[in-house]
Amino acid sequence: MTILEAHGLRFERAGRVILDDVDVVVGPGESLAVVGPSGSGKTSLLALLAGLAQPSSGTVRVGDQPVESISHSDLAVVLQGYGLVSLLTAAENVEAALRAAGHQAESVLEMSSSALAAVGLAGHEDQLIEELSGGQQQRVAVARALALRPQILVADEPTAEQDAASRALVLDRLFEVPHRDGSLVLATHDPEVAERCDVVLTLHPHA
Ligand SMILES: Nc1ncnc2c1ncn2[C@@H]1O[C@H](COP(=O)(O)OP(=O)(O)OP(=O)(O)O)[C@@H](O)[C@H]1O
Ligand SMILES: [Mg+2]
Repeated sequence: MTILEAHGLRFERAGRVILDDVDVVVGPGESLAVVGPSGSGKTSLLALLAGLAQPSSGTVRVGDQPVESISHSDLAVVLQGYGLVSLLTAAENVEAALRAAGHQAESVLEMSSSALAAVGLAGHEDQLIEELSGGQQQRVAVARALALRPQILVADEPTAEQDAASRALVLDRLFEVPHRDGSLVLATHDPEVAERCDVVLTLHPHA
């Protein structure tokens, strides 16, 4: 079991300081909520924690390895903009991620359809992403990440587009990660979601 650990993170873009001296430690079975006003750096921090961007200084490690060397089946991401391929179907988006993570062709169909069903998308497998609503697209992105059964899941406002019933369903699925001893990091504007997490990190905008 691995610990996601970041120390002294500083992130500058276009001459502006976006994050300064941020520390994060999330162990197995733990959940962390990153909160703060729009523009406070939540997405930036999640991108650093997921190894999608490089900090100006500081380190991000998963266990004893730098985050860049971690595979996407160990650390999966739900992006704020979903990051789906719009000309593929819901199922094809999930299958592509599974195949990229090295799963056998004969198992990806079943894994993909059960991941989609788990977020309430049974029957939508063969719809193109561009034919789905924003909330449905967001659930495809959640399904794609969860299908990988990652040790660490980093999710950026994963319930922002959901109605009450889908929000509850998505949250139950996300919190299965810490329940099976993985780690969950999510950014949220939803106080109830933050309250469900073990630790809350509040970011403040820099001038
Ligand atoms: N590549 C970039 N170049 C310049 N500025 C950037 C870049 N990425 C982020 N920023 C700036 O960094 C700040 C933090 O952005 P970020 O998207 O991390 O905030 P956020 O807390 O996720 O906001 P929201 O709640 O709206 O999603 C913003 O002021 C944004 O304009
Ligand atoms: Mg954001």
